Amino acid sequence: MSSPLPIAPGSPWLAPLAGFSDLAFRLLCRERGAAVAVTEMVSAKGLVYGSPGTEPLLATCPEDCPLVVQLFGAEPETVARAMDLLLARGFTHFDLNAGCSVPKVVKTGAGAALLNDPARLVCVVAAMVRAVGPGRVGVKLRLGWCAGRECHLDLGRALEDAGVAWLTLHPRTARQAFSGRADWPEIAALVSRVSIPVMASGDLFTAEDAAACLKESGASGVMFARGAMADPAVFSRLQALLDGQVLPPATPAELAALVSRHAELIRRFDFPRRGFLRLRTIVPRYLRGLPGAKAVREALIRAADWSELPGIIERIAAARSEESC
Ligand SMILES: Cc1cc2nc3c(=O)[nH]c(=O)nc-3n(C[C@H](O)[C@H](O)[C@H](O)COP(=O)(O)O)c2cc1C
Repeated sequence: MSSPLPIAPGSPWLAPLAGFSDLAFRLLCRERGAAVAVTEMVSAKGLVYGSPGTEPLLATCPEDCPLVVQLFGAEPETVARAMDLLLARGFTHFDLNAGCSVPKVVKTGAGAALLNDPARLVCVVAAMVRAVGPGRVGVKLRLGWCAGRECHLDLGRALEDAGVAWLTLHPRTARQAFSGRADWPEIAALVSRVSIPVMASGDLFTAEDAAACLKESGASGVMFARGAMADPAVFSRLQALLDGQVLPPATPAELAALVSRHAELIRRFDFPRRGFLRLRTIVPRYLRGLPGAKAVREALIRAADWSELPGIIERIAAARSEESC
């Protein structure tokens, strides 16, 4: 029997991030305080029909724990079959994506399209709970499809009755995508409507944002998404902040160590060429605020392969001394 997931203010999760929350990034974030990590969204249909794109999304290892597998799908039978496959492979906790608004997902009736069909959403979730038992299924919601069609509060109760163990709310509508601001008071409204834990997501760019959101919403915990993509140490920053300590910004040496570690994890788990191209897109996000970041970014763009990485890491580490020259 798997143990319950840590859900608490001081146990921040890494959010599901399609294209980003792969095994290497999950391990990087765990080393920096992420208490739980969620996979990239996995198509239930892709899994059942053996789509080649699905398998890499399920790559994991013993240190990648506790892990939540996020599924998207609109057919209860297909999702139930996917759950059986995942259970047979030892996965223990699952989340249903009911918030993704990208056309590729929505046109299949999955993701945020389920917010337009609450009865179907509850059926899919009930099939997941039947497959795995209580305590192991969560649902990630937005407010509704568009303004005026918010449904999160009624859905929250229905999903709780269907046996869901936790809810995550990104308080924007699907139509908003990432525009406007996350409506944290709606997280508070959901918290007061259900008795299961609610995880907050949305505009949590820093530890301070997360602490403010926890206070304002009464959420049980938070998930970092874009905040972790820019600063994988945001998890330990929140933990320190809740203990009354503000951690200083990363030094150039710490940023160099971060890039070096991410590169090492990518090289361990990804294909060499693809991994290098990925790293080139990831590193610039870590360098915001670094003196001389522009020159490092340019060097990265010019870099052809892994052999050039040590030089780039040296330049990052030397950034402060360059600045003080
Ligand atoms: C690049 C990217 C990929 C995402 N992929 C997923 C996904 O696969 N499943 C999901 O439920 N949400 C996904 N999200 C939404 C995030 O998990 C999160 O709810 C959202 O970014 C709001 O949090 P933030 O404003 O703190 O970034 C993604 C967001 C981004 C930026």
